[in-house]
Amino acid sequence: MKTPLFLLLLHLLYPLFLLSAHNILVPEPHSLFRFEDPVSFHLLQSSTYNNHSWVHQGSGWFGELQTHSWNRSSGTIIFLYPWSRGNISNKELMDLERLFQLYFMNHQDFYISQLMFKGPFDLQVAADCERHSGKGFLGFVQVAIQGSDFMSFQNETWSPYPMGGRKAQKACNLLNLNQAYTNRKHWLLSDTCPRLISDLLDGGKAHLQRQVKPETWLSSGPSPGPGHKLLVCHVSGFYPKPVWVMWIRGEQEQLGTQRATLDVAAGEAAGLACRVKHSSLGGQDLVLHWGGKSLTQAGDGMKGTSSRA
Ligand SMILES: *[C@@H]1O[C@H](CO)[C@@H](O)[C@H](O)[C@H]1NC(C)=O
Ligand SMILES: *[C@@H]1O[C@H](CO)[C@@H](O)[C@H](O)[C@H]1NC(C)=O
Ligand SMILES: *[C@@H]1O[C@H](CO)[C@@H](O)[C@H](O)[C@H]1NC(C)=O
Ligand SMILES: *[C@@H]1O[C@H](CO)[C@@H](O)[C@H](O)[C@H]1NC(C)=O
Repeated sequence: MKTPLFLLLLHLLYPLFLLSAHNILVPEPHSLFRFEDPVSFHLLQSSTYNNHSWVHQGSGWFGELQTHSWNRSSGTIIFLYPWSRGNISNKELMDLERLFQLYFMNHQDFYISQLMFKGPFDLQVAADCERHSGKGFLGFVQVAIQGSDFMSFQNETWSPYPMGGRKAQKACNLLNLNQAYTNRKHWLLSDTCPRLISDLLDGGKAHLQRQVKPETWLSSGPSPGPGHKLLVCHVSGFYPKPVWVMWIRGEQEQLGTQRATLDVAAGEAAGLACRVKHSSLGGQDLVLHWGGKSLTQAGDGMKGTSSRA
């Protein structure tokens, strides 16, 4: 099973990765936003308790794109895109924000007073809802404490993980007693979340399906050793994420060079070129020739190839 901490890190790293998309290598093109099955929305919470106080961070993710965050000082939802709001009414938004405010406020009582956790400790909560074609929606919540699985929620019931020990047992017993709370949680996962997914698919379509061409250039990096050169093929600013970068000589792919940097003997750099494939290029690979020598490169059986150095 997925560890929420790992998920969280992955999600936190992704935007950085995208922004500084530099030297990225994904050999097999695949797209996260082809709206393949399942389409998912995740709410991630990361809380730390230290010195008698809590710091809560929250974010909302549509697939791998962050669409929402939580403003701790005002206790309100921040919409990162105009379409992140979906078709939610003002009343429903205020109810949701109130619900999250209460939820965060209850942490002190629940984890510290009732479960008697002694600080400092970290808490990660991942609430996911997934839309599977044909099979409807699947919603679940996973809670990890100190990076270790603690309890999960599915089908209106909280269940402890074995490694959560007696505290997890107790937590689930307490939460399952509170029918109003489990009903609410279930409603969020089975009603609010699926509606949001539909709205995001609708409203975010133009954004998620956009194509942005990569900017590319070549440079030499720090010399890897005497008589050697490091050739660097820079590829940045593109969308979506999958991109393919390879060094070639003539028509020949250089074996083991599915990477943006290449260490070569100084005399062997001439004739090398960096080839970039990306969905925005419509099958016309970019080919950048080292040293600016312009050779024509047939692009994968496609019509032609733009050639830039
Ligand atoms: C803990 O909080 C108290 C009261 O806010 C403060 O005086 C103290 O310096 C804090 N200790 C640490 C280690 O941050
Ligand atoms: C968060 O709320 C505070 C207080 O209302 C406000 O000043 C601040 O601009 C908000 N931050 C964001 C990122 O919306
Ligand atoms: C939840 O219910 C579905 C069908 O209603 C079932 O297939 C699934 O196994 C249940 N999951 C758990 C964790 O009980
Ligand atoms: C959201 O609202 C817009 C316009 O108000 C409407 O066109 C669209 O179909 C709605 N989307 C959903 C998923 O209900």
